[in-house]
Amino acid sequence: MKEVKIGLLGCGTVGTGVAKILLERSELIRSRVGAKLVLKNVADLDRETDRGIRFEDGVFISDAFQVVDDPEIDIIVEMIGGETIAKKLMMRAIENGKHIVTANKALLAAHGNEIFQAASRKGVDIGFEASVGGCMPIIKTIRESLVGNRISEMTGILNGTCNYILSSITETGVPFADALRKAQEKGFAEADPTLDIEGFDTAHKLALLSSLAYGMELNLDDIYVEGISNIDSLDIEFAKQSGYTIKLLAISKFSGDSVEARVHPTMIPSGNLLSNVSGSLNAVSVTGDAVGEIILHGYGAGMMPTASAVIGDIVDIARNLMLGISNRIPGLSYQPQNIRKIPVKPMDDIMTHYYFRFSALDRPGVLARIAGLLGDHGISIQTVHQRGRDAKGAVPIVMVTHIAKEADVMNAMDQISSLDAIADTPVLIRIESDDMD
Ligand code: HSE
Repeated sequence: MKEVKIGLLGCGTVGTGVAKILLERSELIRSRVGAKLVLKNVADLDRETDRGIRFEDGVFISDAFQVVDDPEIDIIVEMIGGETIAKKLMMRAIENGKHIVTANKALLAAHGNEIFQAASRKGVDIGFEASVGGCMPIIKTIRESLVGNRISEMTGILNGTCNYILSSITETGVPFADALRKAQEKGFAEADPTLDIEGFDTAHKLALLSSLAYGMELNLDDIYVEGISNIDSLDIEFAKQSGYTIKLLAISKFSGDSVEARVHPTMIPSGNLLSNVSGSLNAVSVTGDAVGEIILHGYGAGMMPTASAVIGDIVDIARNLMLGISNRIPGLSYQPQNIRKIPVKPMDDIMTHYYFRFSALDRPGVLARIAGLLGDHGISIQTVHQRGRDAKGAVPIVMVTHIAKEADVMNAMDQISSLDAIADTPVLIRIESDDMD
């Protein structure tokens, strides 16, 4: 029976899950694939932690370069993360003609153009299903299942940590810091959790999905990113009362000559399917011109869900190896010569609904001044609520607008913030809804 030899770099949360599946379910996999997947080496500097796995002698080593230089190894599974050493190892493995499986969205989003070009030149495959949406097969869906569609839009909840935090605050009112600590304990968060809560992890994933869906060069720098660290439980409460749920959304829309690509806390109507995606679950909706809208839903983080996606990629490559083929499916979904630079639309030009919360002194004429300035900028108010006074004598004035242009909203906010009657920086949350008015 054919053997496919695997070298695993990094045995943290997801790496451990990958090793567990390869070792504990080898018969299940062999019976499906018709080849034996052999975990030849696992490299990690930490050889002390008990991972609950018994490796045979000589399998667990500390030198990752020894693994990528081993001529017997067919597939390198990179689970180290980060952009420095992981990139060095990946490029060397590609140079050595090895296929790659990775969950490293930060590395691919920032350096993917170079990495995928190198892989295509060497005729090796890069599987990265686990880099977006944990277990959800979103990359396979875009690269393979939807190949006959022009994709026009994707909306996703793509960070388990943020979704866990927002859901916990919404459902039980726990403080932000407690919810973050729990997400870290459960192994959802990145080594540096600011990547999660400031929205960058979601932006890495959105850059990858946009490239795959539209055939655009990876472009992380032009994605607008705003995280959840400034979300106040008061706004979660107001949102709930107005029939909305706050989620950190990745939004991508393709008009034919430019792409809207943005990550920010977003209010969505509470009946919307995405509003019910809670905890570390992720979901992504994709709209194609043949298929309409489809939604994938599943665990976006955590040991075994993410490892499940890694194993799927390993098996795809193993099947290719058995047939003696590679590069059957282009890494970034389009043939390399057909990938083009597509500009990302400036944030100032986007049009959407907005939620504002002003903290205003309860004096005659204040509401009229705010409404007047919004009107001066062509912003039309859909609903307005004023609540009772708080301890500072200020009142929260909550407004939802009709569709408005971001640049107009920003100009209006600048002027409203400088009014004497405004006690605090206004809060602005964008709304996604089907209402085009
Ligand atoms: N830190 C990520 C998350 C892990 O919380 O979703 C999966 O990419």
